Amino acid sequence: MSGSMDGLVAVVTGGASGIGAAVVDRLREEGARVAIFDREVPEGMADAYRVDVGDDETVRAGVAQVAADFGGIDIVVNNAGIGAQGTIEANGDAEWARVFDVNVTGMVRVARAALPWLRKSRAAAIVNTSSVAATVGLQERALYGASKGAVLALTLHMATDHLREGIRVNCVNPGTADTPWVGRLLDSADDPAAERAALNARQPHGRLVKPEEVADAIAYLASPRAGSTTGVALAVDGGMDSLRPRPA
Ligand SMILES: NC(=O)c1ccc[n+]([C@@H]2O[C@H](COP(=O)([O-])OP(=O)(O)OC[C@H]3O[C@@H](n4cnc5c(N)ncnc54)[C@H](O)[C@@H]3O)[C@@H](O)[C@H]2O)c1
Repeated sequence: MSGSMDGLVAVVTGGASGIGAAVVDRLREEGARVAIFDREVPEGMADAYRVDVGDDETVRAGVAQVAADFGGIDIVVNNAGIGAQGTIEANGDAEWARVFDVNVTGMVRVARAALPWLRKSRAAAIVNTSSVAATVGLQERALYGASKGAVLALTLHMATDHLREGIRVNCVNPGTADTPWVGRLLDSADDPAAERAALNARQPHGRLVKPEEVADAIAYLASPRAGSTTGVALAVDGGMDSLRPRPA
């Protein structure tokens, strides 16, 4: 697969950690030049820009800087996101607004700022990170799941709007993935080992999804090899969305 993205420039939001970091590695392996957008950029991280997707000014400045530094933008991976737990009673209006602002409007901001560059690209693609929480009901994920459902719908509408401009828009729906985010959730549980076992068991294939598996799916959707694929939600969830095996 090496070299399918030679000469292309990608922006990966939330690229400093977890799934985003795995995407950065994968796209670089494919030959892309990759800019990382993250609100937390560790010292010495290559081609990393401090961008808060919740702040339109930093997004516009980051996109302009990448275009100046790399000469254009071909691929946007909208991956930055935050979690929320609880039923609808657990979070007030301010938290609902904050999570939607990062998880949904954040993707809009980055794509909107990058559109003029994507329109000039010969291989333009946007990939959004949605979640299995967009397509199945989970306990205590009302706000998070609603925000990821919005990402799924947004993907379809963007794919339609920009089809004739040659910009493909797809999303991935990961199951629970073994990232620092989930590590933090496990650390805060009363019994982290039991919580991990429960999360493993919730995946029909019996284990957490690897960030590299999600990165491979995103790299495929982002690459010119997927030139006829747009408006698709690719599940990377060990069967959690669509399979009903009998309990072991
Ligand atoms: N881990 C999972 O189980 C899982 C499952 C399905 C979907 N997802 C989605 O995958 C994406 C990445 O999750 P992860 O598990 O790798 O999380 P993570 O916490 O390991 O990484 C997320 C990164 O996004 C950055 N970020 C957060 N808010 C930001 C903002 N406002 N501006 C810029 N950067 C910001 C963080 O600093 C961090 O580097 C998220 O959209 C998440 O909803 C995760």
